[in-house]
Amino acid sequence: MLIDTHAHVTFDELVSQGIENVINRAKSVGVGKIINIGCDIKSSEDTVKFADENEIFYATVGLHPYDAGQASDELMDEWKKLILENKKIVGVGECGLDYFKAKIPQDVQKSAFRLQIDLAKSVGVPLIVHCRDAYEDCLEILDEKFDWDGKNIGIVFHCYSGTLEFAEKLWGRGIVTSFTGIVTYPNAKDVQEVARNVPMDMFMVETDCPYLAPQKFRGQTNEPAFVSEVAQKIAEIKGISYEEICEKSTENAKRFFERLF
Ligand code: NI
Repeated sequence: MLIDTHAHVTFDELVSQGIENVINRAKSVGVGKIINIGCDIKSSEDTVKFADENEIFYATVGLHPYDAGQASDELMDEWKKLILENKKIVGVGECGLDYFKAKIPQDVQKSAFRLQIDLAKSVGVPLIVHCRDAYEDCLEILDEKFDWDGKNIGIVFHCYSGTLEFAEKLWGRGIVTSFTGIVTYPNAKDVQEVARNVPMDMFMVETDCPYLAPQKFRGQTNEPAFVSEVAQKIAEIKGISYEEICEKSTENAKRFFERLF
């Protein structure tokens, strides 16, 4: 079995294809669980609704750095209640820092990130981090919020696309990296290098659909079924069997997202 640990099936690009069709194609390649990730207030409501309505879906609530402006103490209180009530909400995020387009002031992003870290810690669910062009600042905030010697909630850098050197800093802190279709792109040498070196218990696979379709389907709308391409590529890079990557990534996802099963 495979688990797509980071999808946005609630987005129009996939809803318009018919959710049952998307689910059936995922099941046909062995995808057994799909975690829909919240990025703002609206999509977080949708992920929870989808999870309530369909067994295969799980949900997270979170504010992407581009929607950091929606963060407030009131929203965090509301989400805290929701997470405590609904066991299909398996994590907080995606949240973090993204300086790529610099649309949202850095201090606004940092404050929303800190609020969401506190939320995840207070309810004891894992944190899904989105980090782009902001690696050192992300780590600085995590270092401020976590004691790496103690037992922590799970933390994942989703769609990891930084250097191997930085990934090693994360792994040393018990932070997991997860891979998308980017690892299948011929020019993504850095990400492939990270995949080659990632310890077998420190990675997960995801699509981040509808974005980032793997090489074979590039230009198309990405979907959970294509997570098998990601697993296939990691197997090829690491020189081990596809079955073993499926087994390990699923085992890692189950351990990371304690509420999954
Ligand atoms: Ni995403």
